[in-house]
Amino acid sequence: MHSLAGLVGLLASISLSRAAPSSQNISSDSYFYGDSPPVYPSPQGAGTGSWAASYKQAKEFVAQLTPEEKIILTAGVQETTSGCSGEIKAIPRLNFPGLCRGTDYVNSWPSGIHAGASWNKELVKQRGLHMGKEFHRKGVNVLLGPVVGPLGRIAEGGRNWEAFSNDPYHTGALVYETVQGLQSAGVGACTKHYIANEQETNRNPETENGQDIASVSSNIDDKTMHELYLWPFADAVRAGSASVMCSYQRINNSYGCQNSKTLNGLLKTELGFQGYVMTDWWAQHGGIAAANAGLDMVMPYTQMWGSNLTNAIANGTMQASRLDDMAIRIMASWYQMKQNTDFPAPGVGMPKDVNQPHKVVVGKSIDSRETLLQSAIEGHVLVKNTKQALPLQSPKLVSLFGYDAKGPDSLSPTSEFMNYSPPIQSNHTLYVGGGSGANSPAYFISPLDAFQQQAYEGGTSVLWDVHSQDPDVDPTTDACLVFINAYSTEGFDRPGLIDDSSDALITNVAGKCANTIVVIHNAGIRLVGDWIDHENITAVMFAHLPGQDAGKAVVDLLYGRHSPSGRLPYTVAKRAEDYGSLLHPSQPEGQYGLFPQDDFTEGVFIDYRAFDEQGITPQFEFGFGLSYTTFDYTGLTIGKVTQNDPYPAAAQIQEGGNPHLWDKILRISAEVKNIGSRDGDEVVQLYLGIPNGPVRQLRGFEKVGIRAGQTRKVMFSLNRRDLSTWDVGAQQWKLQSGTYKVYVGRSSRDLPLSGQFSI
Ligand SMILES: *[C@@H]1O[C@H](CO)[C@@H](O)[C@H](O)[C@H]1NC(C)=O
Ligand SMILES: *[C@@H]1O[C@H](CO)[C@@H](O)[C@H](O)[C@H]1NC(C)=O
Ligand SMILES: *[C@@H]1O[C@H](CO)[C@@H](O)[C@H](O)[C@H]1NC(C)=O
Ligand SMILES: *[C@@H]1O[C@H](CO)[C@@H](O)[C@H](O)[C@H]1NC(C)=O
Ligand SMILES: *[C@@H]1O[C@H](CO)[C@@H](O)[C@H](O)[C@H]1NC(C)=O
Ligand SMILES: *[C@@H]1O[C@H](CO)[C@@H](O)[C@H](O)[C@H]1NC(C)=O
Repeated sequence: MHSLAGLVGLLASISLSRAAPSSQNISSDSYFYGDSPPVYPSPQGAGTGSWAASYKQAKEFVAQLTPEEKIILTAGVQETTSGCSGEIKAIPRLNFPGLCRGTDYVNSWPSGIHAGASWNKELVKQRGLHMGKEFHRKGVNVLLGPVVGPLGRIAEGGRNWEAFSNDPYHTGALVYETVQGLQSAGVGACTKHYIANEQETNRNPETENGQDIASVSSNIDDKTMHELYLWPFADAVRAGSASVMCSYQRINNSYGCQNSKTLNGLLKTELGFQGYVMTDWWAQHGGIAAANAGLDMVMPYTQMWGSNLTNAIANGTMQASRLDDMAIRIMASWYQMKQNTDFPAPGVGMPKDVNQPHKVVVGKSIDSRETLLQSAIEGHVLVKNTKQALPLQSPKLVSLFGYDAKGPDSLSPTSEFMNYSPPIQSNHTLYVGGGSGANSPAYFISPLDAFQQQAYEGGTSVLWDVHSQDPDVDPTTDACLVFINAYSTEGFDRPGLIDDSSDALITNVAGKCANTIVVIHNAGIRLVGDWIDHENITAVMFAHLPGQDAGKAVVDLLYGRHSPSGRLPYTVAKRAEDYGSLLHPSQPEGQYGLFPQDDFTEGVFIDYRAFDEQGITPQFEFGFGLSYTTFDYTGLTIGKVTQNDPYPAAAQIQEGGNPHLWDKILRISAEVKNIGSRDGDEVVQLYLGIPNGPVRQLRGFEKVGIRAGQTRKVMFSLNRRDLSTWDVGAQQWKLQSGTYKVYVGRSSRDLPLSGQFSI
């Protein structure tokens, strides 16, 4: 380990010698990275809003603790006795049973990206609720999610699939529902990874060829921080997230778990966060410095805190009130989740000793089944459908191809970290990505299984060859289904956005089969430009990461029992180069090689904001997805902005920030008619062109079921934050004066209705 002082000195001199990056996208007058401004002291949780009663109980509890007992609450233990991942020891004297995270024998739910692709707020809330119920049954106090960082800035980012979307508004809306759903089951959320954790490459410090390489620094200006990366965290805090996980990498050269600006400043002051900040596993790099910067809990355990915290209080380097605040925040979250009453023993039924067989206490439940399947169905996005290929019309013979069509050869309750990231999961259907976000299904229904079941019930014949790269195609087959995937795992960024062998498999089949339908289980962006216009490729579906019901969900869609209603939560480019400098993660190169620097010079222009700004036509735009029916848009109405003072009135900060940011100040509505012959769900999307901002930004979406021939009126209620941009000088959200453009439609580029209003 370096001496910290030496390291800091070196960093400072390196930053000072750097030329200020130049970019028109950065509007702040002082654009100089390398520094994170000090924000001290750490704000004490005040018990605002709905937290008042929990804070009262927590303060009474903590008042009874010895300093050593307070310290117990602040870090995990090395030897776990419960099988929990990240365990806080019990304090039996006061009937505190400890805390548990992570579990087994539950369901494999659709991943974040899949939930994002559903664009269904109510369904996402139900997903959270049912996951929470499973964790509660197993005595798990905290679920290590949801993920809102990464936000998908880097197209090849290895953990983008764990989060919902590449848009902050969309992510914010869905994290709000998830936290509410999850916590209504009495399980605390741990919204992560705070903040700007946008690549896996160099996320942690490492030693290579005898040289120490620091973790990458995400260098972000204040405006971009607020308008993109902090935005969904504000929604998570507003929803009451019990905890927030600080991230591995550095922000402006200061580690995520000891950055006083992001923890004390943005999170605990500006957003009024009442819960506790917990490290990612082994993300602690500072002892007392981290405590003073706002860190409350270390995982999985610590050698830097312990009795050093009381020593630091004794010698004056830390206030006693900081330790109290850590303990109060942790206990308040426990009371806030009502875990003091009727909570199962931590980790009930989990292996106490991995070598011993253990009693399986199943956390999954039958009444989750409908939500799980519906969530799996709605995250599929149909992007091509020609020659009436879909839905399948009572085919006599279908042929299945591709390594992704079949289930795994074996299932075990543990998920493993691989030490590399292959471009595909070549052995079976990809139903979840790799790393700590992986899960172990209660069972698994593959596409092949589901097609067999369909054949059994519906009288179709099925042929398959899931191994050949150039399979024979029976000339009498009605449809050829090709299943491929795009893998991604924590710890690595993806090697690319296509893989040649899957593309060759697709074109080999398409060369022989006039009705070739491609299904891609993709853990992130997958390019299709090499074959999308092939005349024999009649339909293409992005199937994302549906979890254990993958096969059943896709067959229900392909056979038309549901009309596809997913929409892309990211932009699919025609060519990888179209993502520009945001294609690959940044590497430790050149003069900053030992201190990798990642300057977010693009500002807010990521994903569709960048494509719009640069006038690049994507293959499939953000928000795009087909249905089996067609919707017509009319009747745009734009109300009057009811408050137009540029800044929100001063008020006591509540969770999420100034409560007036959530004041509803504008109504917009539109009428949507289902003009096709089938019932279907439409995702009605509202984009605003805010003066001085990107061409368009998502500021509303509603998923509505509309029967064939019927019309529905869709209302959008916009709040002050939705209409504001971050004013760096005033450190406030500010309404712009000028003309705002309004667009309503089917995607970020298919916007049949438009209008405007002025402030
Ligand atoms: C923002 O950055 C992109 C990429 O560097 C550039 O193409 C674009 O012109 C910039 N926009 C403005 C307003 O300067
Ligand atoms: C990072 O540095 C930029 C440029 O000085 C500044 O605008 C921003 O507030 C800093 N953010 C953090 C979290 O340190
Ligand atoms: C106190 O901190 C030092 C240096 O970080 C560490 O070596 C030591 O183990 C810590 N002591 C305890 C009791 O955690
Ligand atoms: C105070 O105690 C802490 C924890 O043991 C230690 O890291 C720090 O160096 C001490 N400071 C002084 C001024 O003694
Ligand atoms: C597929 O299975 C083989 C043989 O068990 C194994 O070596 C390989 O790592 C697996 N591939 C992936 C992507 O898991
Ligand atoms: C399309 O499929 C037919 C077989 O049905 C084949 O003869 C033809 O060459 C294919 N077209 C292309 C462009 O590969």
